[in-house]
Amino acid sequence: MRSLIDILELSVEELDQLMNTADDIMAHPAKYSEVCHGKKLATLFFEPSTRTRLSFEAAMYELGGNVLGFSEAASSSASKGESVADTAKVVSCYADIIAMRHPKEGAPYVASINATVPVVNAGDGGHNHPTQTLADLETIRHELGRLTDLTVGFCGDLKFGRTVHSLIAALSRYNGVKFVLISPVELRLPDYVRKDILVTHRVPYKETTDLEAVLPELDVLYMTRIQKERFFNEEEYLRLKDSYILTADKMKLAKEKMAVLHPLPRVNEISVAVDKDPRAAYFRQVLYAKYMRMALIMKLLDIAVEIDEQEA
Ligand code: NCD
Repeated sequence: MRSLIDILELSVEELDQLMNTADDIMAHPAKYSEVCHGKKLATLFFEPSTRTRLSFEAAMYELGGNVLGFSEAASSSASKGESVADTAKVVSCYADIIAMRHPKEGAPYVASINATVPVVNAGDGGHNHPTQTLADLETIRHELGRLTDLTVGFCGDLKFGRTVHSLIAALSRYNGVKFVLISPVELRLPDYVRKDILVTHRVPYKETTDLEAVLPELDVLYMTRIQKERFFNEEEYLRLKDSYILTADKMKLAKEKMAVLHPLPRVNEISVAVDKDPRAAYFRQVLYAKYMRMALIMKLLDIAVEIDEQEA
């Protein structure tokens, strides 16, 4: 039995297989519409979420399965003081697979070693968010046709942005990928990501505070929200919240084939006028996320469906 807590638990080959499965689901949804019949997904969300929870739920429904769960800590026994370990043991008796989001880093890992069913990390504090990475990889593959030889810019809150940490880890394994890390000094990439991933794997990267200066170099621009809920100090959030705003004017500096990604929710960091730009991929990214979660659920539940080799 396998869980997914960190994106690096999946090999590059497995990522490829998941993307091929997602593509096959998109092309032939009917073939998959009952493969999870009789199976249940529990969504344990101890932290607010719209898209990730609904995306997991839609994914399970589209596979013919059922969903149970809660969407805030206050409506769970955590409010009575139950530990994550106990919750995981209990929910294992009700569901075949668990998706857990938690404000504490490592909570889904603790759940996974106590559960008797697979646990998927749906975001743990400012740490990791592997299923968003699945969506991001599939989006880049569709928008640009490759995951190698890319200059990828990450802009905004690189300190607390968990989607950034997971995507950097995943992309570091592809050849010819370089990173441009664009953030205020206070919100730079944490040292553990820099050391464990970038330095260890000798991935070329540079850091800057100036989005416009580097925009022309990028194949992918990954915009992020300043993560208000992770700040200790409201004043600091207010000072940093509008550090970067991508506008239609700034998009003129970018390559014609650049893809703009954003895990959403967007606050102010991409002006609505950019949505009309064909390079704005963030709403397509939402759809890819659902198909990748469908592929992942099938993989973790050991449900195999033949993919036509010619299409894969
Ligand atoms: C992200 C998250 O929860 O980390 N949202 C998401 O899952 N799509 C990004 C964010 O909240 O800014």
